[in-house]
Amino acid sequence: MRLRKFSWARQRIYFLKRNDDNCVLIFEKDSMQITQLNIPKGMIDFGIGQPAISLLPTDILRQAAEHRLKQGDPSILQYGTEPGNGYFRLVLSEFLSDGYRIPVSADQLFITSGATQGLNLICTYFTSPGDTIFVEEPSYFLALHLFKDRHLKVVGLPVDEDGLIIEVLEEKLNEHKPVFLYSIPTFHNPSTVTLSADRREKLVSLSEKYHFFIVADEVYQLLAYTVTPPPPMMAYDNTGTVLSLGSFSKILAPGLRLGWIQAAPFLFKRLTQSGLLLSGGGLNPFTSGIVQSVLELNLLENHLEHLKKIYRERSSNLSTALSEYLPPGVNFSEPQGGFFIWLRLPEKFDVESFRSRAREQNVDFQPGNNFSSKQRLRNYIRLSFSYYDVGELRKGVSRLASVLKTG
Ligand SMILES: Cc1ncc(COP(=O)(O)O)c(C=O)c1O
Repeated sequence: MRLRKFSWARQRIYFLKRNDDNCVLIFEKDSMQITQLNIPKGMIDFGIGQPAISLLPTDILRQAAEHRLKQGDPSILQYGTEPGNGYFRLVLSEFLSDGYRIPVSADQLFITSGATQGLNLICTYFTSPGDTIFVEEPSYFLALHLFKDRHLKVVGLPVDEDGLIIEVLEEKLNEHKPVFLYSIPTFHNPSTVTLSADRREKLVSLSEKYHFFIVADEVYQLLAYTVTPPPPMMAYDNTGTVLSLGSFSKILAPGLRLGWIQAAPFLFKRLTQSGLLLSGGGLNPFTSGIVQSVLELNLLENHLEHLKKIYRERSSNLSTALSEYLPPGVNFSEPQGGFFIWLRLPEKFDVESFRSRAREQNVDFQPGNNFSSKQRLRNYIRLSFSYYDVGELRKGVSRLASVLKTG
């Protein structure tokens, strides 16, 4: 396809192409964007919690696609069985049993198009508008967005260095009847903390006593750099109160849109008997077939080790640069896994005005109040180290520090 680029009407960029009938087609540049990102030139945006393009493994996926398609079995192109391809669920259960260090069985797995979609399905089939749910304060900002879309009443609960504070949860359970608690137990986004094993046990017994589900978003469970975290929440589940969300987005590639819910099989009935799946079939069967080959060819283990090495270096270099450059009064803990560093600034700090000045200096981040169900946390900043290399991370920190020093 030959495209000719031209600019017209206030710096908008257009492309021209002739089709087979010699007609001229015009495309606007923005409508031809491929990825979600649109970073202004020269900007270092610490707000991006996505892998760098250079970490996306096209070679692995080429090998896996060849392996799968050479088998000449067109069934991965058919409507899929509702919980997801049985062979894929089997190899995924083996992969997760190793990675999670707990037995995971194929019938506990329901295939989704990513953790976000898993969460959306749970909201669709387990809640109604106006229902109460609990979240951590702070929580993943886009999950908060999703709960708002669903008109759910969100109650935020505090966390400390060991994760969700269980005593406060118990107090709130005497005031509210939540359908579920949405939690990010391991390498939390944004606070990076991990829920201790002891609190995991207590949390599950409260969910049994007060009859609420725990929706555990565990997308960072396999991205541990300096510690071994406690096993995922399903390890503590006795009666089917836990629904664990997993994803290939952070360990392979977000564009695959592939993930899973792990839960007691009886909980999947509401999903598999839904109009959505009865009409459309299981989610993402073609991609499941390709990723099945990634797992069968043992291509994910090495890739995951490679990612962990890179992220460990980035996380440690970003922490060092922050300690070197940032003025006193800015605190953070070095992350042990995941993608983020959560900076705490003095109480009176106003993140929004700081952000406008930072952007003028070509550096950006996620402001803390985005992660608050109560629009608080204005003296916090989330930095991600997944997207930029060490040199760029250091440059970004030096820019942030110079804006901080100017007041
Ligand atoms: C806690 C958390 N959950 C879910 C997601 C998105 O996962 P997926 O791409 O599988 O929808 C992210 C991505 O940033 C995340 O940080």
